[in-house]
Amino acid sequence: MTPPVVVLVGPPGSGKSTTGALLAQRLGTGYRDTDADIERRAGKPIPEIFVDEGEPHFRELERQAVRDAVAEHPGVLALGGGAIMDDGTRALLKGLPVVFLDVELADAVHRVGLDAPRPLLAVNPRQRWRELMAARRPLYTEVARATVTTGGRTPAEVADAVLDAL
Ligand code: S3P
Repeated sequence: MTPPVVVLVGPPGSGKSTTGALLAQRLGTGYRDTDADIERRAGKPIPEIFVDEGEPHFRELERQAVRDAVAEHPGVLALGGGAIMDDGTRALLKGLPVVFLDVELADAVHRVGLDAPRPLLAVNPRQRWRELMAARRPLYTEVARATVTTGGRTPAEVADAVLDAL
């Protein structure tokens, strides 16, 4: 087993993909994203998985994707924003170098617009984002070894802060 060198967690819009790709470049390792793994394996986009099979099934696929990635990916790994909601997924993260990318709503909106198709943010995205963040914040901090605030920082500055935090 060759675990990841960094695991990024945080809500949609926290910059996991941008920071992750940049960190991988800096560290000379690969970058992997469990959302992409799930879509490739399922052969369809995440919104379709939610519609066809429901969120509980998506969380199972996500747990499986996290299990495989932490076992076989010795690089930078980014998880979907809700991965930490699943007890089994959180257990898989024990002892790993997990960093929580913390962000305010305004910065998340600025970064990704929250317009990308995310089933849990389909209706009232700003209100939903706040509710999800309130429920999830304790779980992000539970799994994380360090928290890095991304608001007002460039991707390069966030990547530096992650490396400093580890
Ligand atoms: C989700 C976030 C998404 C994706 C799915 C569910 C969530 O990932 O896994 O739509 O529950 O917050 P990103 O955080 O990469 O947008």
